[in-house]
Amino acid sequence: MALETGLPATGEEARLIAEIQELKRERDALILAHNYELGPVQDIADATGDSLALARYAQKSSARTLVMCGVYFMAETASILCPDKTVLIPDPEAGCTLADAMTPEQLLAWKAEYPDAVVVSYVNTSAAVKALSDYCCTSANAVDVVRAIDPDRPVLFGPDFFLGSYVARVTGRPNLHVWPGECHVHAAILPEKMEEEVARNPGSELLVHPECGCTTRALALPPRKVAARVLSTDGMLRYARESSATTFVVATELGLLHRLRKENPGKAFLPAHEGAVCPFMKMITLEKIRDALRDNRYEVRVPDDIRQRALLPLERMVAISPPQRHDI
Ligand code: 13P
Ligand code: SF4
Repeated sequence: MALETGLPATGEEARLIAEIQELKRERDALILAHNYELGPVQDIADATGDSLALARYAQKSSARTLVMCGVYFMAETASILCPDKTVLIPDPEAGCTLADAMTPEQLLAWKAEYPDAVVVSYVNTSAAVKALSDYCCTSANAVDVVRAIDPDRPVLFGPDFFLGSYVARVTGRPNLHVWPGECHVHAAILPEKMEEEVARNPGSELLVHPECGCTTRALALPPRKVAARVLSTDGMLRYARESSATTFVVATELGLLHRLRKENPGKAFLPAHEGAVCPFMKMITLEKIRDALRDNRYEVRVPDDIRQRALLPLERMVAISPPQRHDI
């Protein structure tokens, strides 16, 4: 099927899908796709999920090769957790503005200002930043990770300002310092845009990713106007399945709408901002997945000294919070 449209796959697409399936068997490969990937990429994947779920799938898999259909830091994470597997990314240029918002040098300088602090890095960071951190977290378990830390120790949380501010509010922790980085896609989902969409759809529920520029305003909306939930992308999928509401305004990258609509045919999902498209996630195509499997490229391998230091914070991330939680 051409899954963006629901129409049968074109001859070219069907041929690519058949080639990918064959190569996957030959290479003993597992294809993992993030919830923001293009529809056909999500549909060819063996598993789709949020950043935490992808890390867990990678860790549990017995496949020899992992094809990470996502952005570079996700492939690095898989490589750190699974050093014995070959981790491939179909396009190594698939980066992340948020991961670029904090360099290892910047983190070192920040740590020097707060020598007693515990460092919590969002998974959207380079392997080198993870190697300087005590804990990693994703949007699905950021609150749980911070709650696991001694309340008397200061916490340095980076690089996402909106997520960090949300975690500070929910935990009520006065000693949490937040780095001023942002994802350009989520930061552009402004409060005004979200409120306009909510006003156009009375009776809808509002699903907000905590990286969004509208998170604070969403939580301040009166419940009689809209019920707002702050969730990771897998959290939104679970919530939408279980809620009795039939209309949802969705504040996150548009790729998530593919699964939301496919899994909930009787419900309507409306973007809070039509322009919320991550150009990096859309760089992965069926053709590039076929090429990755055929030519065994592009392998992502984290240098051993960095890998060894980044492993503990990532293992802590994967271990904290049950996978079926609704909200963060
Ligand atoms: P999650 O899918 O983990 O919520 O992450 C969102 C994101 O922006 C990944 O880059
Ligand atoms: Fe990075 Fe934002 Fe794209 Fe996620 S949506 S990969 S945080 S740029």
